[in-house]
Amino acid sequence: MIVLGYNGALLGYPELTGTGHDSSAAIVVDGELVAACEEERFNREKHSAKFPKQAMAFCLKQAGLKSIVEVDLVTFYWSCGLMFRQDMLTQNRAGMNVLEKLGTWGVLRTMRAFNKFTRYNDDHIKKILERNMGVTMGDGKWRAVPHHLCHVASTFYDSPHEEALCVTLDGSGECSSSQVCVAKGTDIKTLHEVLVPNSLGFLYLFTTNFLGFTPNSDEYKVMGLAPYGNRAVYREFFRSLVKLHDDGRYEVDQGLMVQLLATLRKHGVALFPPALTAGLGPARKEGEPVEQRATWTLPPRCRNAWRRRCSTRWSASRSRRGRTICAWPAVWR
Ligand SMILES: [Fe+2]
Repeated sequence: MIVLGYNGALLGYPELTGTGHDSSAAIVVDGELVAACEEERFNREKHSAKFPKQAMAFCLKQAGLKSIVEVDLVTFYWSCGLMFRQDMLTQNRAGMNVLEKLGTWGVLRTMRAFNKFTRYNDDHIKKILERNMGVTMGDGKWRAVPHHLCHVASTFYDSPHEEALCVTLDGSGECSSSQVCVAKGTDIKTLHEVLVPNSLGFLYLFTTNFLGFTPNSDEYKVMGLAPYGNRAVYREFFRSLVKLHDDGRYEVDQGLMVQLLATLRKHGVALFPPALTAGLGPARKEGEPVEQRATWTLPPRCRNAWRRRCSTRWSASRSRRGRTICAWPAVWR
């Protein structure tokens, strides 16, 4: 069986929701990966999100095929039908204030209406492929695969394991940011998912942005720099933003994520609130030297405001769920 997978090319979609990045294609013949490449290698545009026409052509050529119609199945990395689910609000409402709930509700309603009105669905994505490749894909020859399932499959199927517990930690898929799955043989079963805006990936993205690097691009630089820093300095700060529950679930300060996401979409760069910069110092600008900052210290006034802000969120969350959540960091107790 010949399977061609591709990603990127969420063409025509509003910037608000992101339009994909790093378009690419891969071809698997009888369970063996034959070729995989990114479109940027051909069109020379870094992180190109354009339809991966040249990457697909390369994959087909490497597999000895003349046309995409010779492929048994074409798969896309995203399923439009799973976007903007209502439980993005219901799962996360405990960590939001009234305004954030209203904002999230409004965005979900608007985007669902947009999808319906513009008929932006899996069929539309399939037509983009047909238009670009000049073919008609017959019934059952094109399939949209949920994003996190793609992440799990790309790792598990190529591993030596017969059975594994798989955890994905992404910025955002269609609507989930993390999933826990059990994979066995060819089956993948989802046990738990965390829905956006609750996202460790977004926190990583904003940390990258705060450090003066390009989000969705330079995260590897932050990873490379991390061993040179002193983790003890910022541990308490990140503990104030992320709560780890007894059962392994996590909860990121969603109000902050929503706020930063909104400014990032609007200005192309996240604008960090004064309470944050009072403790961390100003965000590093691109090109400025990378320096060690001695400590994370909030002036008492800001520290109390920050503490109140987090306290309100976590206690609201606790009372709704009727269970104990992480205690305060030792430094604030
Ligand atoms: Fe992803």
